[in-house]
Amino acid sequence: MAQSARITQETIEKLESSGLSALAVHLGSLDDRSAHALLEQLELFDLDEIGLLVDRYGNNYVPPSASGDIKPADCFALDGGWDRETYGTKGADLVKGGKVACFVVAGGQGSRLGYEGPKGCYPTSCVRGKPLFQLFAESIRASELKYGTSIPWMIMTSPLNHDATRAFFDEHDHFGLDPKHVLFFNQGVMPSFDKDTGDLLLSNPTTLATNPDGHGGAYKAMADSGALDTIQAMGVEHVSYFQVDNPHAKIIDPTFLGLHAFAPESSGQMSSKMVAKASWDEKVGVFCKVNGRTSVVEYSDLPEALAKQTNTDGSLSFNAGSIAIHAISTRFIRDVLADSDTALPYHRAVKKVPYFDTGSGSLIDPIEPNAIKLERFVFDALRVADRSIVMETDRVEEFAPVKNATGTDSIESSKRIQSERAARWLESLGVSIPRDAAGTVDATIEISPLTALGPEDLKDTDLPDSIEPGASIVL
Ligand code: UD1
Repeated sequence: MAQSARITQETIEKLESSGLSALAVHLGSLDDRSAHALLEQLELFDLDEIGLLVDRYGNNYVPPSASGDIKPADCFALDGGWDRETYGTKGADLVKGGKVACFVVAGGQGSRLGYEGPKGCYPTSCVRGKPLFQLFAESIRASELKYGTSIPWMIMTSPLNHDATRAFFDEHDHFGLDPKHVLFFNQGVMPSFDKDTGDLLLSNPTTLATNPDGHGGAYKAMADSGALDTIQAMGVEHVSYFQVDNPHAKIIDPTFLGLHAFAPESSGQMSSKMVAKASWDEKVGVFCKVNGRTSVVEYSDLPEALAKQTNTDGSLSFNAGSIAIHAISTRFIRDVLADSDTALPYHRAVKKVPYFDTGSGSLIDPIEPNAIKLERFVFDALRVADRSIVMETDRVEEFAPVKNATGTDSIESSKRIQSERAARWLESLGVSIPRDAAGTVDATIEISPLTALGPEDLKDTDLPDSIEPGASIVL
């Protein structure tokens, strides 16, 4: 038997023994060249594992129960009761010593925003319309200058936007950062499969239909790409993790990093930031203690009765909204990887996925959800940390998400929060800000990260005494 025919036969047998018989039949029907193309892609997956996942998350799926012992998570409160200054100094020393890298998950597209392209390229700052990536790059550059160090930046893309993201950075000379310290890598993908039959779907006769494997794919992607080795070789011990949709992410926060690395309540493995929820039904994950372990319970999974539960003073009991900012030690990343089956369970979503129908030989665009996509979540690893802490922060200071085209978490609401934060910084230095009867800032104010990362950086800046109503200002 020719070698390629033998490999095809072996793979057919492997697919059959993994319960993926429909794909085995299809592979057997292809000519050598087409079979070779499909085989190349199949080699990227552990077919035994895929077979088991199809079994577990397909027809035999048992949804995880939201029961168990769920309590609100403790947090280091915004109004103090802990030594903010000492942790700030210790965290700043970590940054100065080159022990911190930052990491953005940017695998998503801007489609929810009605924007075709990587979300990080979306024009976001309130006056100049700087893209999210530029705001992050400038914030990192400003931190490098402030702490006299270099700060590597990992950017996780997905096959949907990897090339476009790299081209965007090339086109803009990496926004002033040293290209050697900007590490791009692609996240992995998972095969999508038919929700009724469990058959792996094809996007064309020789290609599996796949979906990005979730931001939880970050752990594996960091290791597989070599980025984790690179930053460890540079001496990095902690990673500051954030999402591409939040222009207010405080990427380098010495207080948070110090608390994460040195507080006795923390094992220094994985820590998180929270803001008080805006309402019981705000679409954010909530930090809870589930069976005694700090966890994020997604808004869709938190029972309504718990989401609405209040304390005696009327505040929400489950109030710790996740802004998806974490500090993660490089050592912990390796531990998670060594035990990813326990640390990172898959989450199942039923979605519409166009597919090539092998029976009719045509491409089908389904009207109803037809497929199961499996994803992993970065925050699931919190549960395997020995002691994981949550730090409260101010919503306006650190959370201005851009997720939707209109309404809540839209570019419009984000721009309002951007102006509000800038106004607060200026007011704290005596600048008079126009506000309407409801207290909303009546001006559009943008402060470049290169000018200031916080009000303390504006002390030596020449500031106006007041801002005119309706003005657009850039500092
Ligand atoms: C997310 C969190 C939620 C948190 C909220 C804060 C999840 C499941 N939920 O909700 O707990 O309160 O943010 O804003 O994450 N991404 C990838 N690759 C993927 C999937 C996502 O890089 O395969 C990135 C996206 O580019 C984005 C981030 O992960 O930066 C969040 O993903 P998204 O699905 O938009 O989560 P949200 O529903 O906004």
